[in-house]
Amino acid sequence: MAARVRKAVFPVAGLGTRFLPATKAMPKEMLTVVDRPLIQHVVDEAMEAGIEHFIFITGRNKGVIEDHFDRQFELEQVLAARGKTSELQSLNDDLPGPGSTSFTRQQEPLGLGHAVWCARELVGREPFALLLPDVLVQTQGKGCLAQMLDVYARHGGNIVAVDPVPDDQVKNYGVVSIDEGDGRVFPIDGMVEKPAPGTAPSNLTILGRYILQPEIFDLLSAQEQGAGGEIQITDAMLALLKVQPFYALKYEGRTFDCGSKVGFLTANVAYALARPDIAEAFKAEIKKLI
Ligand code: UTP
Repeated sequence: MAARVRKAVFPVAGLGTRFLPATKAMPKEMLTVVDRPLIQHVVDEAMEAGIEHFIFITGRNKGVIEDHFDRQFELEQVLAARGKTSELQSLNDDLPGPGSTSFTRQQEPLGLGHAVWCARELVGREPFALLLPDVLVQTQGKGCLAQMLDVYARHGGNIVAVDPVPDDQVKNYGVVSIDEGDGRVFPIDGMVEKPAPGTAPSNLTILGRYILQPEIFDLLSAQEQGAGGEIQITDAMLALLKVQPFYALKYEGRTFDCGSKVGFLTANVAYALARPDIAEAFKAEIKKLI
């Protein structure tokens, strides 16, 4: 039986240059979709999937993320005194339990692969989930990571969630090449990060949710630079693919690339329309705009 996935890694050390000036003093991961920071949405997904330990790879100017996952006694006292019990309850529900978060710093943003490598001591020699906080996956039923853990329980190995994108956008992503599968889960036989136009093996992109075996850290320790001069996780996964199975999951749900302005704004609209408390009022306002 495959070893249980107990830990999740959240890389939050990037510079967020596509969102300047918003991200000059505030981390991109604290931008809100409706009223929850991006990082909270992704931690929610991991909590729902049963993750027990939450590892954040932070950097300079990211201290507010650590504060966000801590208790705020003054605020709690004020909410209690004002009888705002549901707000108080939801603050508590959002918080991973005591001792279940760890924070380490990536001292230089050398790429996603390097950020993940910084988690090696905190993860240890066990499989782990990796969730990119600027990617939100909206689902009707189970969250994306919970769906992946179901696949992992059946197949073991390494799992990546994939999403088909239009051919002209493939060059912006990590892309997989797949073998025959069951329509939902496919063995992966190749991958490439940001393929040159016309060279992509498919239009299935790696969207930002992974279950990885700890041997990935050994490969990342080579610290080789890939596309864009960054240490890429896809390059290390390609090396791991030679010795371990990888599966692609076409998950049920919809992805928003909140690292891009249009993706982020679209996520706000989609999540607002899914919120019973504001959906009708928001729809009416949107109709007036368009
Ligand atoms: P991105 O490449 O989307 O984020 O990385 P970025 O570099 O912050 O954004 P732009 O392109 O400059 O606008 C995806 C996730 O990986 C983290 C980022 O914080 C983001 O959450 N990351 C990226 C790191 O932690 N370290 C890195 O060196 C690179």
